[in-house]
Amino acid sequence: MAGTYSPKVIDHAINPRNAGALGNADGFARIKGACGDTMDIWIKVKGDAIVRAGFMTDGCSTSVACGSMATELAKGKTIGEVLRISQQDILDNLDGLPDGSEHCAVLAASTIRAAIKDYLATRNEPWKKAYRNDGFQ
Ligand code: FES
Repeated sequence: MAGTYSPKVIDHAINPRNAGALGNADGFARIKGACGDTMDIWIKVKGDAIVRAGFMTDGCSTSVACGSMATELAKGKTIGEVLRISQQDILDNLDGLPDGSEHCAVLAASTIRAAIKDYLATRNEPWKKAYRNDGFQ
């Protein structure tokens, strides 16, 4: 990866932050990207803030770096702030990706935003969580 990928990408790919599922999550999303790879993100919410986030992916090492960065960017942020996390935010915080890998940041940004939307959709009707397949039901 060296030479093509930034030191930050390599660091997050080799030592991903927030890797792993969170049981009893307040929000969850699983998205399959255009490349066919999948990302799962779980979030825990307290008040209006994301207090924990976890991710898993069956994708490339770049998607691992992007999931790691997306969950890092989400922690401590408000619901509204996380809904605005974009592909560009992830690219900027990883010091960029090669052109052919930029779509991996789309997958991570889409998944974290979808996890927030799941939280918003189920917070007043928690029984709906029983119908989602987040790896724990
Ligand atoms: Fe599919 Fe990176 S190539 S997420």
